Amino acid sequence: MFTEFEKEALYKIIYTRRDIRTFLSDPVPDEIIMRLLDAAHHGPSVGFMQPWNFIVVTSKEVKERLAWAADKERRALAIHYEENRQDHFLSLKIEGIKEAPVTICITCDPTRGGSHVLGRNSIPETDIMSTACAIQNMWLAACAEGLAMGWVSFYKKNDVRDILNIPPHIDPIALISIGYTDQYPSMPILESANWEKRKSLKDLIYHETWGK
Ligand SMILES: Cc1cc2nc3c(=O)[nH]c(=O)nc-3n(C[C@H](O)[C@H](O)[C@H](O)COP(=O)(O)O)c2cc1C
Repeated sequence: MFTEFEKEALYKIIYTRRDIRTFLSDPVPDEIIMRLLDAAHHGPSVGFMQPWNFIVVTSKEVKERLAWAADKERRALAIHYEENRQDHFLSLKIEGIKEAPVTICITCDPTRGGSHVLGRNSIPETDIMSTACAIQNMWLAACAEGLAMGWVSFYKKNDVRDILNIPPHIDPIALISIGYTDQYPSMPILESANWEKRKSLKDLIYHETWGK
């Protein structure tokens, strides 16, 4: 179904994709943003409920308000770490909302499809899982387009609802910054900053029962 070359391209994108927080100001053409959103919209979803919406933000003023919400949360979360770790945490750059030319708020509507969406009665959070699948599609598509993308989850949902006029029942799942970058790292930024390492895959695989 796929040529060796196409398969290799897919794996190359999977391994190359990174979370990026440093952006150039160069604008991203609308048609490329549309391709990313279409990739997201072709993600899997429980009962095919497609719970997502995409709020595309390019206004400097709105981005500044979103960046304020993220920075407020970053400072509030610092208290969870002991002294040295706290300084380390505060030194990490955890978003690039103001620099990135585009930020997309991806939301999840838990009411879409009614009360009995096929498959969602057992695990209600499958709506959020579906939205995360859409975001991953977008992330891979962004990488393929030579674009940098950063996932920002440091914010109080009500702050983002207020800033973007999102109704109370809609869940703002992610703020996604998109743009070009001249700093596309080859390893996760948290790894190069000595915050966390990639675990050994073989330690995460069990056979037949948990722990074995
Ligand atoms: C659900 C989710 C939320 C995340 N939130 C943030 C965030 O708020 N700020 C940030 O800098 N990175 C965030 N990230 C990116 C992770 O830090 C990053 O994926 C991880 O360090 C691995 O790096 P890589 O994506 O480059 O492989 C988030 C990633 C996911 C999947």
